Amino acid sequence: QALKLGMIPADGIGREVLPCAARVLQSTPGAPKFEFVHLDAGFEYFQKHGTALPDATIQSLKNDCDGAMFGSVSSPSHKVEGYSSPIVRLRKELDLYANIRPVIGVHGTKDDDKWVDLVIVRENTECLYIKKEQLDQKGSGNGPVATAIRQISQHASSRIGKKAFEVALARQQMRVKAGIAAQETGKAKVTVCHKSNVLSVTDGLFRTSVRSVFEDDQKSKGGPGRFEGISMDEQLVDSMVYRLFREPHVFDVVVAPNLYGDIISDGAAALVGSLGVVSSVNAGDNFFMGEPVHGSAPDIAGQNKANPIASIRSAALLLEYMGYTDPALKIYAAVDQVIREGKYLTPDLHGKATTTECQDAILKALTN
Ligand code: NAI
Ligand code: MG
Repeated sequence: QALKLGMIPADGIGREVLPCAARVLQSTPGAPKFEFVHLDAGFEYFQKHGTALPDATIQSLKNDCDGAMFGSVSSPSHKVEGYSSPIVRLRKELDLYANIRPVIGVHGTKDDDKWVDLVIVRENTECLYIKKEQLDQKGSGNGPVATAIRQISQHASSRIGKKAFEVALARQQMRVKAGIAAQETGKAKVTVCHKSNVLSVTDGLFRTSVRSVFEDDQKSKGGPGRFEGISMDEQLVDSMVYRLFREPHVFDVVVAPNLYGDIISDGAAALVGSLGVVSSVNAGDNFFMGEPVHGSAPDIAGQNKANPIASIRSAALLLEYMGYTDPALKIYAAVDQVIREGKYLTPDLHGKATTTECQDAILKALTN
């Protein structure tokens, strides 16, 4: 029985890099058989058909698919009547409430001295991204005033908190399994990212909700809690950025409300060389959708220049979350090998290879 994956390339480089991910999935030794289902979405689709996310796509994902991959969408920076971002809506429709974004360097490359190995767990359903914006043309007499509602709920904050501790636990178990030294395995930690010194009500609720997940676990009666061996600390979002750039190695799992999570992810991507290598998975309780962290990169779209690694790693992450750990590890290793060798890297990583050449090098590393 083949695994049915909904493939939503959407716009720009999404159309170039998603097929690379599909080819890698199909060629990975030990991976299940796949059946890919092409699904429409995106700004270009909106311009032709008046919707950025047709019902058929949502229905297929809900009823036929075992998982999905999303490319990238070209959302305009100004308001377009009737348009709303399909990825933001999809996350909501499928209740993919966690966006899990590993940011990991490769040993033996130039960022070895600033070793980065962290995961950003971004809340995916609320915060400012509920898009309740209003424009009062008159304001109080001084011209237009725009406001936006920022929604933070205990429910969403607790479940993202729980997800973050689960990710930390899984990483801890992987480190132990890999026989990594005790001081390294002791790094298991969740850092709560917020700004509750200013936004004491909204960020305050996020902070206390996440903290409670851990504190309740510690208080659990009858033996050690589920998150035994993991610690928790917190960091205001602005100094989070500062520390992320200066000492990224101190972080393990960072949990953040939607907007902060979005911003610090792109920042963290700079630490490992390029947005073109950073992957993510949108996770719900029973459905997962892989997605590169980058956007549609109109500056390089259509030139066979885009780095396919973010999408290929996202496919591996999807496999990992769907329970196929061994083939996922093979993909990570093949990608790491190609980065370390440095011969087939795209221009964002200062190489000369095309998207296709980079993909082919990864395919070769996989099957050798
Ligand atoms: P972007 O992520 O598309 O590009 C930022 C920079 O990184 C550009 O210089 C681009 O060339 C480079 N870059 C990104 N991915 C790359 C790759 N795989 N290989 C090589 N270089 C890569 O962000 P930008 O330019 O701010 O946004 C462009 C469009 O993408 C906008 O319409 C935005 O709304 C959309 N976007 C969509 C996202 C999504 O689909 N989830 C996420 C972020 C932005
Ligand atoms: Mg983003």
